[in-house]
Formats: sequence, C-alpha cells, structure tokens
Amino acid sequence: MKSSLPILSALLLTLASCQNSATKVRIQSPNYTNTIQFELSEEGLPYYLVYHDETTVIDTSFLSFNFKNQPALKSNLKVVSSNSTSINETWEMPWGEQREVVNAYNELVVELEEVNIPNRRMALYFRAYDDGIGFRYEFLAQEGVDSVIIMEENTEFNLTGNHTTWWIPADWDSYEHLYSTTKVSEIKALEHENAAGLGHTSIFHNAVHTPVTMKTQEGIHLSIHEAALLDYASMTLLVDTVNLRLTSQLVGSDRLGYKVKRALPFKTPWRAVQIADEAKDLIASNLIVNLNEPNKIGDVSWFSPMKYMGIWWEMHIDVGSWDYGMTMDEKTGQWVDTGKAHGRHSATTENTKRYIDFASKNNISGLLVEGWNTGWERWIGFEDREGVFDFVTPYSDYDFDEVIRYSKEKGVEIIMHHETSAAPRTYEKQLDTAYQLMAKHGIHSVKSGYVGKIIPKGEYHHGQWMVNHYQKAVEKAAKYQVAVNAHEPIKATGLRRTYPNTISREGLRGQEFNAWAPDGGNPPEHLAIVAFTRMLAGPIDFTPGVFDILLPTKEKNQINTTLAHQLALYVVIYSPIQMACDLPQNYENQPAFQFIRDVGVDWEQSKVLDGEIGDFVVIAREEKGTGNWFVGGISDEKQRSFTLNFDFLEKDKSYLTTIYRDKDNSHYRSNPTSIEIEQIEVSKNTSLEILMKEGGGFAISMLLQK
Ligand code: NOJ
Ligand code: CA
Repeated sequence: MKSSLPILSALLLTLASCQNSATKVRIQSPNYTNTIQFELSEEGLPYYLVYHDETTVIDTSFLSFNFKNQPALKSNLKVVSSNSTSINETWEMPWGEQREVVNAYNELVVELEEVNIPNRRMALYFRAYDDGIGFRYEFLAQEGVDSVIIMEENTEFNLTGNHTTWWIPADWDSYEHLYSTTKVSEIKALEHENAAGLGHTSIFHNAVHTPVTMKTQEGIHLSIHEAALLDYASMTLLVDTVNLRLTSQLVGSDRLGYKVKRALPFKTPWRAVQIADEAKDLIASNLIVNLNEPNKIGDVSWFSPMKYMGIWWEMHIDVGSWDYGMTMDEKTGQWVDTGKAHGRHSATTENTKRYIDFASKNNISGLLVEGWNTGWERWIGFEDREGVFDFVTPYSDYDFDEVIRYSKEKGVEIIMHHETSAAPRTYEKQLDTAYQLMAKHGIHSVKSGYVGKIIPKGEYHHGQWMVNHYQKAVEKAAKYQVAVNAHEPIKATGLRRTYPNTISREGLRGQEFNAWAPDGGNPPEHLAIVAFTRMLAGPIDFTPGVFDILLPTKEKNQINTTLAHQLALYVVIYSPIQMACDLPQNYENQPAFQFIRDVGVDWEQSKVLDGEIGDFVVIAREEKGTGNWFVGGISDEKQRSFTLNFDFLEKDKSYLTTIYRDKDNSHYRSNPTSIEIEQIEVSKNTSLEILMKEGGGFAISMLLQK
C-alpha cells in the first residue's frame, strides 16, 4: 500500500523572525521514535540533527561538497520547496533472513538553491524509519553544466558523546581487519597499517569503514553505513577524536585525481544511521535493504540457496595448492607443462569427484572448485597480472566436461571460481566468454576474487572505478543467470534487494585467516562483533564448519572457537550460501556433522533472541518451506550461561530437537572439539539453561514432526 498524504509528523517551520531567515524542517518515523531535523543557518549552511525519542543522537552536522573547477557547495543556500510523503509497503525477499519485509517510513524532500550565481540546485531526501534514518543528495540539472567532479563529500555525523565504538580502519583496499573496541577519542586507524592480510593494505587517514557501530552512554546503539552504493566512491568516516565528530571521506583515485565524476542529474548513495535501544535490534533491522530499489533483474528462480563444499580449505591449510606447477618458457612467454609439476594440485578430476561423492551423500548441493583454471603460477605477489588468468581454460589434470557430467549425475552443482588477481580489465574483457561457459553447463553461481593491489595503479578496491567494475560484473552475470559471491569485494550496501544475484560476499576477516594469519587468526570474540557490524551490511560468505579445529598441518594456527561455536555460525551468520568448509575426511564419522546436514539456508523468519556486541549473540531462524527451526548461539572468550526461552515456537507443534553444546571441559584453546549432542523435548513453554564455554556456543535443530 502506498500513499502520499501530507503527514502530520513533517512540519515545515519557517522561522521568519526579524533576526534571521533560518529554516527548520523535520520528519518523524511512523511510530515517532526517530526524528531528523534539517536546518539552514543564517549564512545558508545546511545541517541536520537526529533525535531518538527525546535524546539527540546526532547533533548539528553540516553538509557540503568540494569540487574540481567549481567553488564548494556549502553556504548561501535557500530552501525552494519541501515536501513529504509516507510509505508503508511489504515486499518479499527471493531468499533471505525472512520472507516478508515491511518498509515503512516518512520522507521529506528539501530542494535547495544557491542564492548567488551560478544558483546551483540540490535536493536532499530524508527518510525516518522506526529503526533508523537515511538521507541522500540529488545533484539537479544545471544549465550549461554536464557533469561534476567531486573532490570530497563532507557529510558530518556529530556525535553526542565519547561512545564505545566497534571499528575497522578505513583501508581503501580491504575490509579484512580485526575489529577494535575503543572510545571514539581512542580510534587510531593508522596503527593497523601492517595488519595481517593479503598484502594490499592502504590506510591513509584516521578514518573507519562502515558499518561502524557505537553504543552511547545512555545505552542507545547506532550504526552508520551507506545504502545503494552505485557509480560513486565508497564512504569512509574520518574521525575527529577531539570534537567526537565523524565526517565522510570518499575513497579516491590517485590515477584520476578525484573522488567521483558524474553526469548531472544524479543521486548519491544513502547515508544511513541505524538506531536501536537494544543491540539485538540492530541485527533485526532492514534499514539498509529498505533504502534500496526493488528487484530490477526479474525472475531469479534459477538460483536456489544452498550449502556447499569446496576444493578450498585444503589449499589454505597447505595440504594442496591452486597452481599445477607449470613453467614459463622464457622464449615464447607461454606457460608449459615440463613434467616438473609438484603433484600437489588440488583441483584434479579425481579429487573433485571425491568431494562430489561426499556432498551428494550429505545433503550438500554445491561444490566450489578453486584452482581449476590456468594462471595460478603467477597469482600472488606479482606486479604484472594483466592477462594472466583466463576463465575458460582448465589445467590438464582437470577434465571440465567430465566433472560437469559427474556432478549432474550426483545432483551437485559446481560453483565456478574466478580469481581476477585484482586485474579487473583482464576480467572485464572475458566476462561474456566466462559467463557463457557457465551458462552452457548450467552453472548458476560464481565466487570471484580480487586479491592484490588493483591494476591500473592508483585505483583502490573501494573507489568509484572499482564500484563500477563490481556492478558491471553483477549486471552482466544476471544476464547469464549467474549469481555472484565476491571476495575482496566492494562492501554490501543492500543492493541485494535490487540485484538479488549478489548472493553473498566476503568483505571481512573470514575463516581463512584462522589457517594462515601470522597473528594467530580471529579471536573468539570476532563473530560476536561481526554480527553487529559487518553483518548489518548484508550476507557474509564466512565459510564456517571447521571440525579439525587444531589444524594439525599448521604449526602456528588453530581455530579459536569450540566445535559447537562452529555449528552455531550456520544460524548466527546469514548467507544464502553456507559452506561446509572442512575436508570430507574430517567430517566422516563425526556425529556433530548431522547438524550441517540438517541446517537450513533460507528463512521464513528470524528472531534475534539476545546479544551484546563483542560478547555473545543468539539467533533463531525458521526454515522456509519446512517449518523447521534452528537456533545458534556464540560466546566470546568468556564462558557464559544463557537462558533460552522457546516462546518463538507455535503452540501444539512437535519437533525432533537436538542440541549440540559445549561440555564442561570444552575450551577454545585446550579442548575445542569436546561437544555434547543430546535429544531433548521442548515446547513453547520450555526454558533451557545453556552454558557456552570460553570461545564456545551451541546449535539446536528442531525438525517439525508432521
Ligand atoms: C582470497 C579468498 O578470500 C579466498 O577464499 C580464496 O581462496 C583466495 N583468495 C584465492 O582466490
Ligand atoms: Ca579474502
């Protein structure tokens, strides 16, 4: 249902007093809990404030832009018009944390014009939702001007206190950083320059990435992010540790010498602030997807959410390798098989069939194969990566057609892998042929990768040029009925609503860091922070499910969680593709593997039962189509007990319920694989005390009995 009635909560208060001509306009959310107030100062400087009930959560925050070859758009503005509308609609996710999403907000559009020549015009869109606010700029058409070159956007978020903040540094090339928990005044992003990663760290300022999540002294939770990042540079937030103010700083291009170039007219991405009284409500919020446009690619029934395995973990734990061991012929520059291959190549036909056999027997419908195509000999650490990978030529020990034939026979879908090695121009040239090959074989999803510094030099993963590359790949993929799971991606900004084929992505320190990070991997609190930060942006390909937690092939690394915590991640971390990342032999004869066989990947509804950022989180989800429920809970490095009430269940339904939980002697360092598996009786009235040990957690499957 849509309506565009004038609404009471949008008040235009023009203060035409004798002293000034300042203007004040405000809009409130449907239940009046959140308010955005827009004002123009006497000098015509635009600014806004945000209130949560009676509390100011964003204080006077100015808005301006700097351009190349044009004066800044900053002051001497006047309000030309202001209009409000009210929307209350429900839309359906093709797959997701829930089937139906309510999108209810009040919107205020304020049109501004410069008082002086050249009388540039701009519109500001403010939306007030019950779970936060969003605003965006529209650069309107201007006579004689085709385009603008933005040198900086200065959107302020003036904080009202020295909030506790969960942040990662604004690395222009990577989101693969551990979260720090500090006061705003103590944010020191530059200290993370040499963090463990894949060698493409670019941190230049004391700035943070979004989503950045904060808790105020009054206990209000805020998370700042952006939505609908299209044809624009990613927004990072420069931190003023003295005045406690965050200001947008766009990722730039050293090559082009600006931040954004756009033809007029255009709209920027939304700047969004999630606001919640309780931490758990941040996760339940749909603000970011709601700020995006509806599906633009039509029918997507060609993709189904799935669990998948991969020829993947074995390379990360040094059991195999991506490359085959070819040698470059100095004279011809061609890669040749000189018979000196090292014999460690993982993506062989035989090994792939072994994984297919295991997946098909265990209710796992996808298999990712990395290292199947030529180019890996020259993958990491090389300057010259242009033209190296091709996305249609398999290594000689990988019989592409036979693998496809066998996978179809066994009912397992192969997931394509395209490591671009951050050479997007090489990839773009091959997009059609690469996706054509997939379409021909009925392959409907691809994992892409962008490891390394971007070629051409001077571009960064999160600048406008790369934003456009990632988007081009997604739109092209949609034409071939291909769904994309990018690693080293651009951040998620809710575009999955508009382009549902952006099924998942990395964009965080994933499980792989546990295999090789010199700092020892992700600490136990990692995902209890991620759930309230990175996950607010959208689905995560974290790749859970390590059973061989002590990693015998890796002397210095192990997983810093218990086995029950690994199982819980299938529920806690949302993604329509969930990997069972360990090797088949590590799952054989493991009773706990039954949870992975059973767990759903697509949800009718989700209930975030409780959580505190960095401490613990417990989520229950009802599987779409079956009525089965699954619950996952994870703790940080501390042991804690949780009282689980099953009041989310319907009355008079019975379930075959199995709980997988830490034992008294479980501990993420010393005894991570100790697990208790028990069948229990539960109903709507049950209340269960569950102990999560250090780095631990629990998982529950509730299979509806018909
Ligand atoms: C980094 C990705 O995150 C990882 O999953 C992948 O195996 C390698 N790149 C190779 O593409
Ligand atoms: Ca990665």
